[in-house]
Amino acid sequence: MISDLFAEMEREGFEEVVVFHDRESRLKAVVAIHTTVKGSAIGGTRMWEYSSFHHALNDALSLARAMTFKCIGAGIEFGGGKGVIAGNPAKDKTKKLLRSYAEFIQSLNGKFVTGEDVGVTNEDVRYMKNYCDFLTGINYDPSSFTAYGVFHGMKASMKYLYGEESLEGMHVAIQGVGKVGMELARILVENGARVTVSDLNRERLETCKSFGAECVEPHQIYRIECDIFSPCALGGVIDERVARSLECRIVAGSANNQLKSDAAGKILARRGILYAPDFIVNAGGLITVANEYIYGKLDEERLEREIEGIGDRLIEVFRLSERLSDERGEVISTHQAAIEWALERMRSGRSDSSSISRKYY
Ligand SMILES: NC(=O)c1ccc[n+]([C@@H]2O[C@H](COP(=O)([O-])OP(=O)(O)OC[C@H]3O[C@@H](n4cnc5c(N)ncnc54)[C@H](O)[C@@H]3O)[C@@H](O)[C@H]2O)c1
Repeated sequence: MISDLFAEMEREGFEEVVVFHDRESRLKAVVAIHTTVKGSAIGGTRMWEYSSFHHALNDALSLARAMTFKCIGAGIEFGGGKGVIAGNPAKDKTKKLLRSYAEFIQSLNGKFVTGEDVGVTNEDVRYMKNYCDFLTGINYDPSSFTAYGVFHGMKASMKYLYGEESLEGMHVAIQGVGKVGMELARILVENGARVTVSDLNRERLETCKSFGAECVEPHQIYRIECDIFSPCALGGVIDERVARSLECRIVAGSANNQLKSDAAGKILARRGILYAPDFIVNAGGLITVANEYIYGKLDEERLEREIEGIGDRLIEVFRLSERLSDERGEVISTHQAAIEWALERMRSGRSDSSSISRKYY
């Protein structure tokens, strides 16, 4: 827990933390802006019943920093930021509160661009748009683009391992067929892959069966002999035990923070399983909302190009992990290499070839 905010900001390179309170609407919110070196800070707004102000602050800071990594992984010229509203969305979320939050974000004058997250729906964002210019993720559902990005990440991983990117005839096991996993399963089946899925929700499994996927019970998905294991449900699913037992060659999925620990990443690397770092491979949705914010309407060709860039960034990181392992004489996992790759980009302020340009405020 953070005891000295200034020390934390200095250590982690935060630019700004804004705390907002409005007596009338009962809004209590924090916006953490990690960096605007490359452009506005971007990140969703979460509404959650935090047990204390410190928990809310902690969440805002850690999620904002993670967003900087995601922006680098997405190759977009934004920085990381995060908004949190303290309160129970089911009980405390009123139109007055949303308006007050929207006016607060407006007062930051574009330094922070936000959208939906846990506890804040697309409908809420649409309503807030009446009072704030700096909202995105309104007209397009990012999930299908996230799925498309994961698909490209899988192809790049195949190419890196086998020199051939086709997924035809490959067996992919997907954990979780929600908004992203379902679309991914569909794309994979269309591209000739054999797909096995698991979910806690039976209806979703039935839908997957209807387009040719096979289904297993949730606990069985880890044991499937397959080419690619794709975590698309929750974070932290690959602990050391799972890393030791997976029977696949590649791990590539949409879930955030898939590895429970760095040690799990190392075990995968030692076993010759190629792990596609989550914050790079799941960037398709972020690329989409960034495009929506800048251009309003999506230009499909440009968006497709930018999402396909996920594959290039992954290959860069895979090569880096190989090079660092050689140089240091120890296994450097792709996860660790991705962190070092992102930190280096952060330090150098290096731009990507993305067409998304700098500063929007
Ligand atoms: N939606 C996006 O654009 C996006 C972008 C980046 C990252 N992500 C991450 O990807 C993951 C999936 O996102 P989503 O939008 O599809 O979420 P979602 O809530 O629509 O789907 C998650 C699915 O996982 C299932 N599930 C939960 N626990 C499970 C378990 N133990 N075994 C099997 N299935 C289980 C749920 O029943 C649900 O169908 C999340 O971790 C999310 O944070 C999503």
